[in-house]
Amino acid sequence: MRRVFILLGARLHKGLDIVCSDGSIVYAPFDVTLNGKLTVYNDPNKAAINSGINLSGEGLCFKLFYVQPDRTSGTVRAGQRLGVMLPMQSVYPEITSHIHVQMCDRSDPTPHF
Ligand SMILES: *[C@@H]1O[C@H](CO)[C@@H](O)[C@H](O)[C@H]1NC(C)=O
Repeated sequence: MRRVFILLGARLHKGLDIVCSDGSIVYAPFDVTLNGKLTVYNDPNKAAINSGINLSGEGLCFKLFYVQPDRTSGTVRAGQRLGVMLPMQSVYPEITSHIHVQMCDRSDPTPHF
């Protein structure tokens, strides 16, 4: 099973996109508190990749899109599993599957990861 840490990644637009194969396990980059599940899209055609999670840790509030979270509340320690990368290829076969990281205040996440 491939492991994906949120530490890797390329920079992009208002967030950070981390290349990640569909079905990969996603791990916490540091100790985090889970602030609930997110809905990424309202479009039923994109239901397969609709989930994300709202997190905080190290004084940061941020969101991960396209991840099916194992849990939506409580805490997860650094290196422990957060969830699974959703099947982005089933919705967007023309792009490389990725997790999108966005800060709650819309600032650039790049310096933190
Ligand atoms: C994410 O969680 C933070 C902290 O609880 C909260 O302030 C923020 O409104 C949440 N954002 C979303 C999109 O749920």
